[in-house]
Amino acid sequence: MSIPCVKRDEKGIYTLYVNDQPFFMRSGEIHNSSASNLTFMKEKLWPALRGLNMNSVIVPLYWELIEPEDGKFDFTTLDGIIHQAREEEMKLCFLWFGLWKNAESMYVPAWVKQDPETYFRAQKVNGDRMTTISPLCQAAVERDRQAFTAVIARIRELDEEENTVLVMQVENEIGLLGTDRDYSPAANEAFFAPIPEKLAKALGRQGTWEDVFGEDAGECFMAWYFGSAVETIASSGKAVYDLPCYANAWLKQSPWFPGSYPSGGPVPEVHPVWRAAAPSLFAFGPDIYVPYCADVMDEYTSSDNPLFIPEIRKDAVSSSYALYAFGSKNAICFSPFGIEDLNLDPDQLDKPPMEVMIALNIDPSAFDITGSRACLSATYGLLKELEPLLLQYRGTSHLQTCVRHGETDYSAFQRFGRYDLAVSYGPRQSGKPLGACLTLELDENRFLLVGLNCSVKFSVKPGVNKHLDFLKLEDGRVENGKWVPGHLLNGDEKMSLRFGDLPKAMVVELYQF
Ligand code: DGJ
Repeated sequence: MSIPCVKRDEKGIYTLYVNDQPFFMRSGEIHNSSASNLTFMKEKLWPALRGLNMNSVIVPLYWELIEPEDGKFDFTTLDGIIHQAREEEMKLCFLWFGLWKNAESMYVPAWVKQDPETYFRAQKVNGDRMTTISPLCQAAVERDRQAFTAVIARIRELDEEENTVLVMQVENEIGLLGTDRDYSPAANEAFFAPIPEKLAKALGRQGTWEDVFGEDAGECFMAWYFGSAVETIASSGKAVYDLPCYANAWLKQSPWFPGSYPSGGPVPEVHPVWRAAAPSLFAFGPDIYVPYCADVMDEYTSSDNPLFIPEIRKDAVSSSYALYAFGSKNAICFSPFGIEDLNLDPDQLDKPPMEVMIALNIDPSAFDITGSRACLSATYGLLKELEPLLLQYRGTSHLQTCVRHGETDYSAFQRFGRYDLAVSYGPRQSGKPLGACLTLELDENRFLLVGLNCSVKFSVKPGVNKHLDFLKLEDGRVENGKWVPGHLLNGDEKMSLRFGDLPKAMVVELYQF
């Protein structure tokens, strides 16, 4: 078996290959503490995921459990999770909670926490020591590197033949909160020196951090040192077993100054710095809890950054975004956070307290699961069956997918060879998906539509003096890329083409007269 890898094709599309086959991660990330107890995982977690049509899960690994005593590794949870995932026929992305998680060093083992002289903390400008270990602390980075590499070696030992583990996330939402940069003595010394040669070469600029980056110097400085630490850790693991690795970002949100979001995390403005520092990573993934998810997905998809979404809101709108992610953005992974909650009764869901939401800058409605489970399970199910068609048509004008981008985005216009299609989004309502439509032009008169909360209307091309009408309209389902008709729609049912709160597929055949 060959090792999972991410490759870019001649059209510029990135694909994750597993056993040499393209693999679209229809995923979900579990809550931070869920993977610390194997019995809980077995009895509660996996059953909650069944029926969601997922093919993979993002699961944390905790440094404090893996190396509870200095130099002594315990792989009980790691081994158990791999075995359980196999029993469930699920693939894994492991999320390494090492030195940094949400801009803090919460998951470091006690022997690291209690030795602040060796593993020194970042400091604020007034000298206050933070809970975050400084990325300039080589001793700490070295210990994380050793632990991560031991984890990867263990994964290789257990999994090289089976490829249950596909991808590794290295650290989580890295950066510093409450300050633009680290003001520890080591950081101050580095900050007033010229920027490192490797960075100067990559950017074609030279000078001190302030010369090169002006007002953004503090953030770029942190991006370089966090990126370099992640590179040390990831590349050491990859040398043992070359699994694809990525880092994720806490998004920049109002009021937008570094430190109000973690300064030095891989937000788009500092991608060039991160790329120079951490060439081993294949992507910088966004964690999206804002109301404007589609804008973020657009921003994080580029010729050098495939879309990998390790965390996204889990309210009903996430289904619409899943359609957009795979239909329009060629996403490698889509993964609502706290996925096990979808099995719960929405009224009984224990949402994070308001102060946690405020501290994490999370839109509270992102955790309202009303209507989510049924919609996500149906959407993931459809996406699974659409895979052969997505593979055939992606990167061409025959596949077009739109989603409502914001409050003032009312419609989209998709242009095909002989016809155009106007998609009108239904109103946004809580507990309902957003308007979205994935359209495949199967031949010049035949279209496969998958929609949510929208209505659609075909028209002939401008300048064509003809009418159009339906030759045939069918609802039905897709099975492994093949259309299986349900009803032949005519009479009342052909008056308008509408999609509701659950995804539906239709095939439309048109003619002109
Ligand atoms: C983003 C973090 O990356 C997750 O680990 C988690 O803390 C969520 N926020 C909020 O629950």
